[in-house]
Amino acid sequence: MGKEQNAQQTNLNKWVAGMACVKRVFVNGYGSIGNRIASFLRDDPEITLVGVGKHTPDERINTIKSSGVDVYIPEKNNDDFAQYDIAGTIESALDSCDLVIDASPGGCGHKNKKNLYEPRGIRAIYQGGESVRGPEAVSDVLFNSESNYDTVAGKRHVMQGSCNVTGMGRILEPLRAAFGDRLSRFDVTLVRRWADIEQEDKQLVDTIEMTENPHHGEDAKAYLGADTPLYVRAVKVPTRQMHLHILDVRFSGKMPEIPEVHAIYGNSPGVAVLWTAAGTRDVREFARTMGFHFTDTNMIHIHANMTVSTGDTIQMMYSDDQTGIVIPENHMLMQAMLFEREYKEARAHTESVFGMAVKKQKLQEHFAKS
Ligand SMILES: NC(=O)c1ccc[n+]([C@@H]2O[C@H](COP(=O)([O-])OP(=O)(O)OC[C@H]3O[C@@H](n4cnc5c(N)ncnc54)[C@H](OP(=O)(O)O)[C@@H]3O)[C@@H](O)[C@H]2O)c1
Repeated sequence: MGKEQNAQQTNLNKWVAGMACVKRVFVNGYGSIGNRIASFLRDDPEITLVGVGKHTPDERINTIKSSGVDVYIPEKNNDDFAQYDIAGTIESALDSCDLVIDASPGGCGHKNKKNLYEPRGIRAIYQGGESVRGPEAVSDVLFNSESNYDTVAGKRHVMQGSCNVTGMGRILEPLRAAFGDRLSRFDVTLVRRWADIEQEDKQLVDTIEMTENPHHGEDAKAYLGADTPLYVRAVKVPTRQMHLHILDVRFSGKMPEIPEVHAIYGNSPGVAVLWTAAGTRDVREFARTMGFHFTDTNMIHIHANMTVSTGDTIQMMYSDDQTGIVIPENHMLMQAMLFEREYKEARAHTESVFGMAVKKQKLQEHFAKS
């Protein structure tokens, strides 16, 4: 065999080996989150998107179908979908895939686990509306790529944290890494959005709603550690434009300077430090202008002009791209579960699909200190 033939054979071997590694993934639930997840799966050459599960017979099926994605339906509801072009039942699709990403409304994931995924022995990722506590727990692990990536390799059922829970990890983990024992307490007030941008039929109600016993603190402690001195309260306000977290970080030792605090996020792919955004809408509008997919930034935005140092406390505010932030996290989690990949390699592959470094750079340039 000549040199050229050898090279061709090597390339062919690599391609065959590569194809053997392509995994088949199904998305059950096609709302704000499922729609985005299905989209990134199509952008990932290592994944075949088997299709998506639809539970309501409506016009959306035709839109999904015309975008080139197969639609599957629950076996028991076959007759309701007679007028649509359906590829098969969700049950049959699950039989042919390596992993399912459940993106159903909160609480449905647990039922799906019991009725569909566990009986088939299929790996599953669940979203933030589920729980890791109590009789309806979907998993014993709540994933946050900054915190516990290394613990989920090969796991069969894992829950991805919700947007607020993911956001707290992106801010608190770098703080802990940088200041360790000097930190004595975190107090977070979550100002939550009422609805998502796509949920046009959901009316915003003119009130500030208070949330009793918000799950976010306990969820964050599921990966930060139960003894983390984290205290969370939450309200909901009538906006579609992201969540805002108001965070007080209390120190017991020497206080850092504010620029030192901002600098710890320099290498965080999922955190941008912005100075001149007057509100969360400015950030979203910039994402729209720049043509970011789904107008998502996929990140946390520290509003650096709001950081204040007072006594033993650093006060910060950061906004959280409610739908976009968990999508790269699902991608990281999927890689750990399907490929058991090292963190660094997984992060690089997620970056190749989402281009977050470029988004961060553009956001920071646009909202730079004037
Ligand atoms: N929206 C966010 O910002 C956000 C952020 C982080 C995490 N999450 C979490 O992500 C999950 C999904 O939220 P979402 O905002 O995408 O909700 P969503 O927009 O209401 O979408 C959920 C979809 O699930 C489908 N569905 C209904 N019953 C189902 C079942 N039994 N099994 C599978 N799918 C079913 C529904 O579609 P059809 O009836 O039309 O089929 C619906 O479109 C929740 O756990 C939520 O807490 C949401």
